[in-house]
Amino acid sequence: MLSQIEEIKSRLNIVDLIQGYIRLNKAGTNFKAVCPFHNEKTPSFYVSPARQIWHCFGCQKGGDVFRFLMEIEGVDFPEALKTLAQKTGVILKKENKEISSEKNRLYGINETAVKFFQENLEKTPAGQKAKEYLISRGLKSQTIKEWRLGYALNNWDSLIKNLSAIGYKLEDVEKTGLIIKSNQPPAASRQPLNKHYDRFRGRIMFPIFDINEKIIAFGGRIFAESSEALAKEESEPVAKYINSPQTLIYDKSQVLYGLNKSKVEIRKANSTILVEGYMDLIAVWQAGFKNVAAVSGTALTDHHLLILKRYTDNLLTAFDMDEAGERATKRSLNLARSRGFNVKIITLGLPNAGEKIDPADLIKKSFEAWKKSVEEAREITQFYFENIFARFDAGSPEDKAKIAQNLLPEIKIIPNKIIQAHWIGELAKKINVREEDIREELKKTKKTEEIGETFISRANKTEKKSRQDLLFERLVALFLKYPEKKSLIARSSDFLRAHQASYIKDLDELLNNQPNHSDLYSQFSHLLVLDDEENSDFDPEIEINECLKELKGYCLRQTLNDLSKKIIQAEKEKNEENLAIFSRQFNEFSSQLIELI
Ligand code: UTP
Ligand code: MN
Repeated sequence: MLSQIEEIKSRLNIVDLIQGYIRLNKAGTNFKAVCPFHNEKTPSFYVSPARQIWHCFGCQKGGDVFRFLMEIEGVDFPEALKTLAQKTGVILKKENKEISSEKNRLYGINETAVKFFQENLEKTPAGQKAKEYLISRGLKSQTIKEWRLGYALNNWDSLIKNLSAIGYKLEDVEKTGLIIKSNQPPAASRQPLNKHYDRFRGRIMFPIFDINEKIIAFGGRIFAESSEALAKEESEPVAKYINSPQTLIYDKSQVLYGLNKSKVEIRKANSTILVEGYMDLIAVWQAGFKNVAAVSGTALTDHHLLILKRYTDNLLTAFDMDEAGERATKRSLNLARSRGFNVKIITLGLPNAGEKIDPADLIKKSFEAWKKSVEEAREITQFYFENIFARFDAGSPEDKAKIAQNLLPEIKIIPNKIIQAHWIGELAKKINVREEDIREELKKTKKTEEIGETFISRANKTEKKSRQDLLFERLVALFLKYPEKKSLIARSSDFLRAHQASYIKDLDELLNNQPNHSDLYSQFSHLLVLDDEENSDFDPEIEINECLKELKGYCLRQTLNDLSKKIIQAEKEKNEENLAIFSRQFNEFSSQLIELI
C-alpha cells in the first residue's frame, strides 16, 4: 500500500492535479492561488512543487495530492486513492479485493438496470405514460435523459428476467436492493416463498448518483396511472416514493442527490440551494439554478453538512417550513448554523395564494415567482422574526411574552455576539421593552438545540501555542521532511518532554508501518510548504540541531525550576541529604544550560 501511494505520488505532479480545478500563478518556486476552500480575495493558497504539497494560510487547510482531492471532491481517503490510482495507472494490489470487486459488481448491476429502465421509459406504452407524466410536471426530454430517469414495468420479475438473461446472479442483484427475496409470501402478491421479485414495480425511476456519477441506489415514484394498478394488487396503501435500502454502496445519510452534477456550480456560486427530493432538485436545476443539492428520504445529517462544507458555507434552503415539517427542519437548520453555515430561507409562494407549494410546482407555475423567492431569501433570524410577529400581536402583553419565548432560543443560538446584539435590539424595539430585560430572559433561555453548543465552543477555542510548542512542531516537520536525519532527533530525545519524545517515537513507527501519510502531511502542511531549500545556506542538520538546542534550553530551565522548589522544600524540612542531592543536580544542570547558551 505504501509503495502504491508513493508510486501514485511519483507519477502525478501536484501542480497538474490542482491546476485541473483552479488557476495557479507562479510565485518564486511555488504557486499561488485564491483558495478554493474558503472565501478570499488575496491569494493565500500555496502549492509547493518541490515538496508536492499545498497549504492555505487563510483557512489552514493543506496536505498532499490525496488531501487535495479529498477536500475538493468531498471524498474519503480510499475514494481519493482509487481515483488517483486510476488517473496514474497504478494498480491497487492490496486493496481489499473482495469488497472492491463486490462494489464494482453492484455498480455494474445498477448501471445495467438504469439502461433497462431508460429503455422502458422510451419504448414501452406504460413507459410513455410515465414520460408524459414527467413532461406534465414540467421536465424537458433533455432533462429526463440527463438525469437518466426511467420506468420500472409493473410486474414482478421484468428486471429479474432482464438481468438474469445478461448473466447476473440474483444473489448479487439482491445486494443492490433492486430485488427482494420473499421470506413470507406477500398476501396480495402470491409470490412463492424464497423467490426473488422486483422491488420497484410500475414506478418512475430516479437513479441516485455518487459524486463520481456512479449509480448507487434508486428512488421510485408512482404516478396517477401506475398508482391505480398498484393499489389493486397491494393490500397496503402504496407509498408515493420507495427507495433502495442501505447497501454496501449506499448510505442515504451520506448522499446528497444531484451533487454529481452540481458540485462545480455550487463552488462557483459559493452557495447551495438545498431542497427535498428528486423532483424538486431536477426542476430547480432545469430552471438554471444549478447550484442545488437535495436530501432524499432523510433529514439533513452532519455528514451531508460536512460534504457541503467542502464547497460552500452558504445555504439557501427551500425546505417545508410549515408546522408539520417545522421541527425536523429547524433541527436541520440549527445543525447547519452550528456547523458554521450562513443559512437563508427561501419562502416559496405565489403572490396571492396562501397555500404552500414546493419548488418544482412553483417553477412550473411561474419561473418569475420562483426567481423572486430565491432573490428574496431571508436570513434565518429575520425569517423567524417575521414569522412570529405575523402570528402574534406585539401590542398585547401576553403575546409579547410568547413572542419572546419563541424568539429567544433562536437568538441564543447565534454564535456571533454582534449579530446577536443586533437581534436583541430588534426584539426590544419591536415589543417595546428594555434590552436589559431581554438579556435577562436570554440568560434563562436554553438554545433550541443544545447540539450546536459543544461544537461552537470547541471551534472558538483557538489555543495559543507556546514557543516550545512551535519549536516542537518545527522539529516534527523536519523529521517528516528529512527522515534520513531522524537518528539525530532520536538520539536527543531526552531533551524533549516525555510526551514529545513519545510523539516522535510514534511518528517514527507510523512512518515505517502506516500506508496513509496524508493525515500527517495535512497536519503539518503549514510547516512543510515553506521551502527551506530556497535558502542556499540551508542545512537540515544545522536546523534540527538548532531546534533541539532551544528545546533543550526549555527542558533545562524547567528542570532547574523544579529543582529550586525542591531545594527550598529541603531547606524548610532541614533535610541535609536531599539538600545535597538537589544542589548537586542544580549545579550540574545549570552548567549544561550555560554551555548551551
Ligand atoms: P415529496 O413528497 O416532497 O416529494 O417528498 P417530491 O420530491 O416533491 O416529489 P413530487 O413533487 O411529489 O413528485 C420529498 C422526498 O421525500 C422522499 C423522497 O426522497 C422525496 O423525493 N419520500 C417522500 C419518500 O422517500 N417516500 C415517500 O413516500 C415520500
Ligand atoms: Mn413535490
